[in-house]
Amino acid sequence: MVTVRKLEDLKREIKKVKANNLSIGFVPTMGYLHDGHKSLMERARKENDVVVASIFVNPIQFGPNEDYEEYPRDEEHDAKVCMEAGCDIVFMPQASEMYPDGFCTYVEVSGLTEVLCGAARPGHFKGVCTVVTKLFNLVRPDKAYFGQKDAQQLAVIRKMVSDLALGIEIVGCPIVREADGLAMSSRNSYLSADERQQALVLSQSLNIAEKLVRHGVRDVTYIRNEMVNHIGTAKSASLEYVDFVDPNSLMPVEKIEGEVLVAVAVKIGKTRLIDNKVVTG
Ligand code: PAF
Repeated sequence: MVTVRKLEDLKREIKKVKANNLSIGFVPTMGYLHDGHKSLMERARKENDVVVASIFVNPIQFGPNEDYEEYPRDEEHDAKVCMEAGCDIVFMPQASEMYPDGFCTYVEVSGLTEVLCGAARPGHFKGVCTVVTKLFNLVRPDKAYFGQKDAQQLAVIRKMVSDLALGIEIVGCPIVREADGLAMSSRNSYLSADERQQALVLSQSLNIAEKLVRHGVRDVTYIRNEMVNHIGTAKSASLEYVDFVDPNSLMPVEKIEGEVLVAVAVKIGKTRLIDNKVVTG
């Protein structure tokens, strides 16, 4: 496994891969890797000749009052996970390498980015789309792997790749959960033991929705109320949203008909967590 930190070094490595006509699978991450990230890398390993991962806490996707400074970082651990998952090239740039003085070009997807997390985090998806485009231009992958946990991010990136004809296959991978149902996230490390227990209301509320749909309930208002009531049982929970949307357009739906993305965002204490499930009516 080769670790590179400079754009020029990454370009040189990618040039060698392309010269040998090998396919590239790319896994962009912000590090502090867990089994969710590892599953993306393992899938990329199976489907490509060469696997490239990036580890970069992208400052421009954090709002002014968000957790950029506190975001957990552990390069040594991340390198070990990348190695175990079979990555060939790991790109770990500094912010100044990605955004040198005078950087002023951004990529924005409208509409899809104004709902769900985008409503509460203005500018977040502009930061994501900009860094992902730059990384795509550097890595020139055939396929790129993203977790379904960030369902909105996945939909936004798919749209950006399609609108800009980037010619990269975007592979969405299933959410990886802890044994008790909590969706894996680097931000889970912020939770105290008590908050970690309370955080289960996210996945539990989604299970409630799934069960109601299985029993024939189609009315979104009814299902949302049941979910909100359950989330309210956690004393440190403050609800941001429980939304029912089309998985591709992210437009709200009134009834469960066909596939519906049920998405939740909840703060447990100071930690903002998201989770989702696709239900079918
Ligand atoms: O999902 C993430 O970890 C980030 O948003 C991404 C895609 C690596 C861009 O910084």
